[in-house]
Amino acid sequence: MNFEKYKELYRYSIENPEQFWAEQANEFLHWDSPFEKVLSGSFEKQDTRWFVGGKLNASYNCLDRHLKNKKDKPAIIWEGDDPAQSKIMTYGELYEEVSRFANVLKKQNIKKGDRVCIYLPMIPEIIISMLACARIGAIHSVVFGGFSADSLRTRILDSDCQLVITADEGVRGGKIIPLKKNADQAVNECRNVKKIIVVKRTGNSISWDDKRDVWYHDEMKKVDSNCVPEKMNSDDPFFILYTSGSTGKPKGVLHTTGGYLVFVATTFKYVFDCADEDIYWCTADLGWITGHSYILYGPLLNGATTLLFEGVPSYPNFSRYWEIIDKYSVNIFYTAPTAIRALRHEGDEWVNKTSRKSLKLLGTVGEPINPDVWKWYYDVVGQKKCPIVDTWWQTETGGILISPLPCTPLKPGSATFPFFGIVPEIIDEQGNVIKNNEAGKLVISKPWPGMMKTIYGDQKRFIETYFTEVPGKYLTGDRAHRDEENYFWIEGRNDDVIKVSGHRIGTGELESALISVPEISEAAVVPIPNEIKGQGIFAYVVIKPNVIPSDELKKKLNNHVREMIGPIATLENIQFVKALPKTRSGKIMRRILRKIAVGDVENLGDVSTLADSAVINDLIAQ
Ligand code: WTA
Repeated sequence: MNFEKYKELYRYSIENPEQFWAEQANEFLHWDSPFEKVLSGSFEKQDTRWFVGGKLNASYNCLDRHLKNKKDKPAIIWEGDDPAQSKIMTYGELYEEVSRFANVLKKQNIKKGDRVCIYLPMIPEIIISMLACARIGAIHSVVFGGFSADSLRTRILDSDCQLVITADEGVRGGKIIPLKKNADQAVNECRNVKKIIVVKRTGNSISWDDKRDVWYHDEMKKVDSNCVPEKMNSDDPFFILYTSGSTGKPKGVLHTTGGYLVFVATTFKYVFDCADEDIYWCTADLGWITGHSYILYGPLLNGATTLLFEGVPSYPNFSRYWEIIDKYSVNIFYTAPTAIRALRHEGDEWVNKTSRKSLKLLGTVGEPINPDVWKWYYDVVGQKKCPIVDTWWQTETGGILISPLPCTPLKPGSATFPFFGIVPEIIDEQGNVIKNNEAGKLVISKPWPGMMKTIYGDQKRFIETYFTEVPGKYLTGDRAHRDEENYFWIEGRNDDVIKVSGHRIGTGELESALISVPEISEAAVVPIPNEIKGQGIFAYVVIKPNVIPSDELKKKLNNHVREMIGPIATLENIQFVKALPKTRSGKIMRRILRKIAVGDVENLGDVSTLADSAVINDLIAQ
């Protein structure tokens, strides 16, 4: 595709969305029953449905469909944390394993519509588990292996999962992660979890409950590999994935089957332009949406070879990513700005001692990429010959919404133009569409197939969060502007979501964790810039009158937050304060705290709504 063709097809896709998406649906997927209507309902009424009447199965589309021509083609290349460990699974082998494991799930009484929690490291069994759920119509809820037992428990309970799949332990950067131990702790308070299926990863000894726990490898021996895929309605729930919002507990983002699959298959094909013989590698974790859409579903729907890496970019040394690229002749490499920043920080020698000559295309996702970092990625990693696709999207959007295609003329730091069928707009405080290049709220004004269906069990919160502030349009929560040539520049979150190393954390979750410590009466959390992580967490804490502030207390707070949420939630800075700045109605003015945290005290903006202006002087004096 060239850029003129992109513009032409984009115009066609927004002028004839139903025709465009019907063509993609038929090109990329096998339908057991054809859909009767491409799109029904609207954003105004909150009743959009895609490919109405169609029936299909995700695992059939990822596996069975490719058996005729690609049975012996590698589906997964697995590279272990230890460079000496690796494994290749062909489409034929993956099909066998998935069908077998689907039978294991059935034997455990898991049926269509049941929720299954997957808490696994980056090993082939995580993909097998997800596809096995999809095969029988069970809804998977993958929880990132770096989350704590507490976070795992709240997610299991919120979607009422009946079964948990985990491993004895995980291994990352040479360190052991006690997954089964966390799962035991989490499940102790989840009455509906009757079984835990455990994959043996390290073989170290773990605690075991004979009534509840079974080994994956034992169960796999007891079943055969014939499992007819369940024909799912296009609008049936497909998976739940938890993500943080600005308030309250994490939201269970629910995606449905047909729309999601069409969207990830199409975006994968066009954005990454993956040829049949290409080796594609996305470094995300399957616990996040990027892993779901662009390690698993997008690539396998397209019959591509996807690389699955268990480890971290710094182990055994900072050349690891580039060594893996050379080892497998990776052609397409998709990672996050935080990893690029960290590797750039270590110096060019780590990159330059590898060849990377196989690379054709680079991608980034998760945060804005600063132009300097972009240039380093382009010049040093890609040796000035690989376009960079800076892909903007969200857990909620299912797939990429704004991104260059490989043919797009690039500007470092800009996500450039919308994908086919996507109509983004920038809105000012009054709700008007901004036409010049001023910044405002980024909204999407027309439905697209990958859009989430609802927040699991909370349709009210879904509407309030995404469709109330700007009625009839999807509110992304991001701030952006568009330049004279219509390039989009995403500036970051416009709400109380913090992105630490690309991980999404809500200030509300952090504050709840802080105030559950007995010494604390109030807390407010704001982001501060961090050179490597993008953003860091700054906590303002009010302690109870009889408590003495100390470094020990700071340590205690940090440990507590990490234990409740997970190690990604490390507080970079904690400040004890007498009071928090609030409005007369009692709302914490985070806007002011954000400025004070970075020392920008000259530009606090309008402080006239403050209930007690003396609070500010106290904050600044510290
Ligand atoms: C941010 C990750 C700038 C954005 C797929 C969004 C980005 C949030 C980009 C969603 C990008 C993602 N440029 N910002 N290319 N990609 N973001 O749900 O703030 O983990 O709202 O999904 O990441 O994060 P999530």
